[in-house]
Amino acid sequence: MPVSIKMTQPAGDGTAAYQSLADEIRELIEAGTLRVGDRIPSIRRLRQQSSRSISTVLHAYQVLEGMGLIEARPQSGYYVKRRPSAGSTIACSDPSSTPRAVNVLDRLTRINREMCDPALVPLGGAHPGKPMLPMRQLLRLERTLGRVARRGADWYEFPAGALELQQAIASHYIDAGCTFAPEDIVVTCGAQEALVLCLRAVAKAGDVVGVESPTYFGVLQAMESLSIRAVELPTHPQHGLDLDRLRRTLARQKLKALIVSTNAQNPLGFVTSDEHKRELTRIITRQRLPLIEDDVYGDLTHGPRPRTCKAYDEEGLVMLCSSFSKSLAPGMRIGWCAPGRWREQIERLKFSSTIASHTIAQQVIAAYIKQGGYVRHLRKITRIYEQQLCTASNTVLESFPAGTNVAHPVGGFVLWIELPRTIDAMALYERSAAAGISIAPGPIFSPSGRYQHHIRLSIGHPWSPTLAAGIRRVGELAKELSVR
Ligand SMILES: Cc1ncc(COP(=O)(O)O)c(C=O)c1O
Repeated sequence: MPVSIKMTQPAGDGTAAYQSLADEIRELIEAGTLRVGDRIPSIRRLRQQSSRSISTVLHAYQVLEGMGLIEARPQSGYYVKRRPSAGSTIACSDPSSTPRAVNVLDRLTRINREMCDPALVPLGGAHPGKPMLPMRQLLRLERTLGRVARRGADWYEFPAGALELQQAIASHYIDAGCTFAPEDIVVTCGAQEALVLCLRAVAKAGDVVGVESPTYFGVLQAMESLSIRAVELPTHPQHGLDLDRLRRTLARQKLKALIVSTNAQNPLGFVTSDEHKRELTRIITRQRLPLIEDDVYGDLTHGPRPRTCKAYDEEGLVMLCSSFSKSLAPGMRIGWCAPGRWREQIERLKFSSTIASHTIAQQVIAAYIKQGGYVRHLRKITRIYEQQLCTASNTVLESFPAGTNVAHPVGGFVLWIELPRTIDAMALYERSAAAGISIAPGPIFSPSGRYQHHIRLSIGHPWSPTLAAGIRRVGELAKELSVR
């Protein structure tokens, strides 16, 4: 007898009907209302209960099957297969609080090259795959903006950016709790340039800057190139920076800045609570400490748009950095920062660094946001990434050695994996590359080369048999390394 489940009527909010139906069933599985082994209603029965079409119900069941949550048993029906991995068992990191010179560039040069190599299965670089980008719409906009485009080709934009884009970003960020005037924003060449400019504005060679542990390796790359030293700060895989430990570090160590990512942090995938953001902003305000907040995945979180620390910043101490690289198109190289009290300095640094950002790309993105295309696109791809992360997480848990733990990202598209201690992440990286698969090894996410038995997988490309097989193969290689 299948369990009886009560479904709501179709949402009518623009969400694909099959998607909202799949979401409802997934939530029932997550909540434990539907348990492993329960038979769920037949397609015909659910069609009647939910007032959706047969093809909608079938599509929803296919999605749930793809996520590994249900299975079809011949002659019998659909059954709940497993609960989604609830929460992570990865512990809060506990790095040494001694400042140290950053040393990642040597390793990163080769790894970065492989992460961009289209010949490898793309589980390494955190890049969205081509089908995830709204290329048709962007190219159409570029054509219809032909007049601007022709003008743009023979003209430098202002160093601080095109007014249209500054306006569009300011209005888009209202949902993140920020009230920007367009001129508060400086457009950059990707978030990476924004991070570098902010670091240059507040720190110099030899200074110490606090970073999350683990942290995005691009931050470390920037610090190493500026000879800025790092202190790694304990970071919880679901709650973010450990604020007690931060207070203790600040009591004995002079930091010139702090760099954090509060929304869908790379590589852990957490979103910190509003209370955590408010408290972090209070701490840095008391210390007059610049906070560089990297919000590059902020538009790609699973729930409603989360706020940022910048939303609580009354003193202009938070330098918010972001880009359209993860959510729209990395190749357009459009990022930005809202650097608070360092606004003038950042504009000057931008001018001396790359003069201005790509004129036409700025116009196209501004028009896309203004026409509502960006928000529609985000609604679509965040759901896809959420599903893909769940499928990838289940695939890892099925195919990696016993004792593997997986983080529980609530945004973005990367998955942080803790392997059993006997497995060396660099050896796994080498073997995966030799097998034609790119992965990101844990040590590049730490200035001290910690995370020697961790890896990060990127699920930014559309889920496919190749991606699934790639993950399973990395799991087999990990098993081989664990028995050596
Ligand atoms: C957390 C984080 N910040 C910044 C960047 C750099 O973004 P962009 O490509 O816009 O320079 C990345 C890219 O991977 C990232 O993951």
